[in-house]
Amino acid sequence: MKNFLLATSLIFSILLSSACVDKGANSGNTSTGGDTGNIKVGVYVDLTGQTSSFGQSTKNGIQLAVDEINAAGGVSGRKIALVIEDDQGRTEQAKTVVEKLIKQDKVVAVLGEVASSNTLAAAPVAQEAKIPMITPSSTNPKVTQVGDHIFRVCFLDDFQGSSIAKFAANELKGKTAAILGDVNSDYSKGLTEFFEKEFTKLGGRVVAKEAYTQTDPDFKGQLTKIRNLNPDVLYIPGYYGQVGIIAKQARELGMNMPLLGGDGWDSPELWSLGGDALKNSYITNHYSADDPNPVIQNFVKSYKAKFNNVAPDSLAALAYDSAKVLADAIKRAGGTDSAKLREAINATKDFAGVTGTISINAERNAVKPAVVLEVSPATKQLLPKTTIYPEGMTAPTGSTLNSNTTMNTNAMSNANTMNSNMTNSNSNTNSTMNVNK
Ligand code: PHE
Repeated sequence: MKNFLLATSLIFSILLSSACVDKGANSGNTSTGGDTGNIKVGVYVDLTGQTSSFGQSTKNGIQLAVDEINAAGGVSGRKIALVIEDDQGRTEQAKTVVEKLIKQDKVVAVLGEVASSNTLAAAPVAQEAKIPMITPSSTNPKVTQVGDHIFRVCFLDDFQGSSIAKFAANELKGKTAAILGDVNSDYSKGLTEFFEKEFTKLGGRVVAKEAYTQTDPDFKGQLTKIRNLNPDVLYIPGYYGQVGIIAKQARELGMNMPLLGGDGWDSPELWSLGGDALKNSYITNHYSADDPNPVIQNFVKSYKAKFNNVAPDSLAALAYDSAKVLADAIKRAGGTDSAKLREAINATKDFAGVTGTISINAERNAVKPAVVLEVSPATKQLLPKTTIYPEGMTAPTGSTLNSNTTMNTNAMSNANTMNSNMTNSNSNTNSTMNVNK
């Protein structure tokens, strides 16, 4: 009986999720892994649930890329057909829909998920089936360690966490920090660890580490404890749904210190949730839609034209890049044979993406700079402050993202030659700061 119930509910959920198949893109020729006909690519994201703007933006970014590719004749004359599944932001559902995409739809590759915990739940399915998966935006280091078929086109949380710790210590001159993190999220747990490590290394002290879960309605207990310790900065490595409310409650409690976060804050919904409480906040992110770089501005223009004039967040940009990287690999692989396709994705080098140049390294990760953005609730913008480059990477010549505020972490470790020429774009005095003080 139990098995029967399980089987029925599985069939039911497959039927339900099948309803999400993008009928438009998927109509016509249904050929998949062969050498002719449409190329089926699976997408799994959270189109509903707690962080659904992640899924919506990701779906849009992928759709834009695929529409452009198909309008230009497809990949080696074959069109890409997307099969899109909603996993509701739940780990078990992520696993179930990826099973369906691979076994039932026979997709040649999978794009997704966003939240690291969801990708970590589903990646073993793709790895086992030897179907390449590219996550546009899951940043936890463990994701690509699942196996040699799992790739990503974004930076990792060790870099993201240490970048904001450097910003806190060097630019904000913070000596003490508190962290309020999501105890059920691999993403949040990773960032907590990486922030603390770097902040401590730079001479700072983490005076409190408090935890919440995504179902908590109220954060005042944790915030009151933190307030009593009066830290210079408060790091909240979570997702926008809770962050907005935490920011409001913190300000209500009279906590006026800078709030720091990561890419998980990035959502068009952040503004209505956090409002003015988000003033004096800074986050690390993958790109800024306000970067004047023409590559970015062209993308922003096409995206806005297609999606109701909404500016693409970093998820949309990363998703767009992930689909383009996949298409490029299918072209180089000369088809969709999974072993050849895996090799081709693995060999991705100097791919010019919207979020920067993408080269896949030996660990199947992309090594890319991070941007520190100032949260501006008044204009509902994330304004570029600083670009932080990973060790060994320097700012490209002619780089347009606040070129006077680039900070090279490699140079930072070299105290004698350090002169970062960091300008605080927000200060009226236009003062230049030495980040190594
Ligand atoms: N990096 C987040 C994670 O791994 C997901 C995310 C990426 C959220 C970009 C927003 C923007 O969980």
